[in-house]
Amino acid sequence: MYCIKKITDDLIWVGANDRRLAMFEGIYSVPGGVSYNSYLLLDEKTVLLDTVDKAVRNRLMENVTEALGGRTLDYLIVQHMEPDHSSAIEDLANKYPDMKIVCNAKTLGFIKQFHNFDINSRAHVVSENDTLVTGKHTLQFIMAPMVHWPEVMVTYDLTDKVIFSADAFGSFGALNGALYADEVDYARDYMDEARRYYANIVGKYGTQVSMLLDKASALQINMICPLHGFVWRRNLGDIVSKYALWSRYEPEEQGVMIAYASIYGNTENAAEILAAKLRDAGVRTVMYDVSVTHSSEIVAAAFKWSHLVFASATYNAGIFIAMDELINDLVAHNISNRTVAVIENGSWAAASGDLIREKLGKCANINILDKTVSIKSSLKASQLAELSSVADAIIASMPGSSAGAAITAPETEVDPATMFKLSYGLFVLTAREEEKDNGCIINTAAQLTVTPLRVSISVNKANYTHDMIINTKQFNVSILTESVPFSIFERFGFRSGRDTDKFEGFDSVGRTNNGVLYLTEHTNSVICVNVTHVHDYDTHSLFVGEVVQAFTLPGEPSVTYQYYFDHIKPKPQAPKEQKSGFICKICGYIYEGDILPDDYICPICKHGAVDFEKL
Ligand code: FEO
Repeated sequence: MYCIKKITDDLIWVGANDRRLAMFEGIYSVPGGVSYNSYLLLDEKTVLLDTVDKAVRNRLMENVTEALGGRTLDYLIVQHMEPDHSSAIEDLANKYPDMKIVCNAKTLGFIKQFHNFDINSRAHVVSENDTLVTGKHTLQFIMAPMVHWPEVMVTYDLTDKVIFSADAFGSFGALNGALYADEVDYARDYMDEARRYYANIVGKYGTQVSMLLDKASALQINMICPLHGFVWRRNLGDIVSKYALWSRYEPEEQGVMIAYASIYGNTENAAEILAAKLRDAGVRTVMYDVSVTHSSEIVAAAFKWSHLVFASATYNAGIFIAMDELINDLVAHNISNRTVAVIENGSWAAASGDLIREKLGKCANINILDKTVSIKSSLKASQLAELSSVADAIIASMPGSSAGAAITAPETEVDPATMFKLSYGLFVLTAREEEKDNGCIINTAAQLTVTPLRVSISVNKANYTHDMIINTKQFNVSILTESVPFSIFERFGFRSGRDTDKFEGFDSVGRTNNGVLYLTEHTNSVICVNVTHVHDYDTHSLFVGEVVQAFTLPGEPSVTYQYYFDHIKPKPQAPKEQKSGFICKICGYIYEGDILPDDYICPICKHGAVDFEKL
């Protein structure tokens, strides 16, 4: 039986979940299952974006048939040819003989490699920024090579501002009935899996992910529809800001990830003592036994934390096997910009430390601390001071670290940051004077008394709404919710109503008994006030008034100022590091350096230097 989910009036999720898969790509455990997302656009033409893995192919076929409602399928857009998204191409081609397959030239080659049907007669080949008009919708194709295969492209719906992002912004984990990231506690339950997915699947291609983020930053995006995991319709910045950090190999958190390989527990003992010393100094730590925890978990943790400690036994004159695999994995995923400490153990000839240092030394911007501990079989009391030196060196390398320092009152008398710790809400304040409606954003609305029911607001005198309230002595406060998009703040907060109509093209409004507008969306309550007192405070007026009408609307919790900064306001981007290098025009591989050798061969697609161009 079909299982589909409506996203908009003309966009339907027709994907499927797999909770029986033991190993994704044969490498990565997926204890929470995995979703394969496929999206059907019902316009004058019908368009399917990608298919699914063969394990759930039948469900996709049922879903598409149901969602089409008797119509035929006009287009299949193939954004990514990895078989977990392309298994049903041939079935669909057989079922819908007139279906065109929209793909780029690289994809076309892959389709021929994986399938054995006549693709040429139905291929509609597109290039960067080409568009496909399907009726009401116009779809634009944006190439995203190496995110995660060379042929990857993403699709932007110019009409609804939806980006179909292929592997980008995806996650391990089945959907379990929900479809949107805001339906679950994503930060608590899914962000670790999103990081593990990113680090292991596309972590190697940070530069290419950055290039895609650059392209996407020029677009207005209301929704992200990835091939795995949840759809993002709110707080897009939560996942985009993570991708910005991950793609630049910048740590998310200051703290220490300790990975250890211990055969009889003595190396583990040293790692435990180090962790305890760091914790005593107020430093956050996580620990992994590399023999127990799969390297994909540890690679993901390495993408999260600022400092990495590797403690390893020596084995056959080398690094202990599981640790060696982890280090190789980290190097393969281009781990960069980390501070590293190493502890080695060896009963007759400790060698693992130098070997780990040598391997990680090849990665970009890895600061390997001089302080180290070399154990012969087991840690001795005389070596505790050496462990303390390692802990001290780690702490000293943490920028602005005050770990372990006594907390004292600073000298400054007024720290402006304290004001941000006050708990504020965010509101759209509206007024009407003659035929003119206007509104602005405020963060200071509070109940003053119960009987009579009074509220107060503080409004900057520069605001046009301020003058309207002075003249009319009435206003409305729409209490904003956590679902409020940043565009509301742009509309009501970043321009003046003196020279624009802030409500132009904005339909989500109603009028209260006083004739003043209020917001009907992203608002959970409305308070209408008649002003009784105005107090002058230089730059601001404090309006106090009696509540004459108030009602609640169905909605989410009220947004706080802190929530706005954490989830809604776009994060400032770090200045871009201008990389010098060359990009392979065939697969998107990037060679870093000023000069590309004439005999250079792309390690991904094996094309020569002639197929590279300067970044
Ligand atoms: Fe889920 Fe690169 O595919």
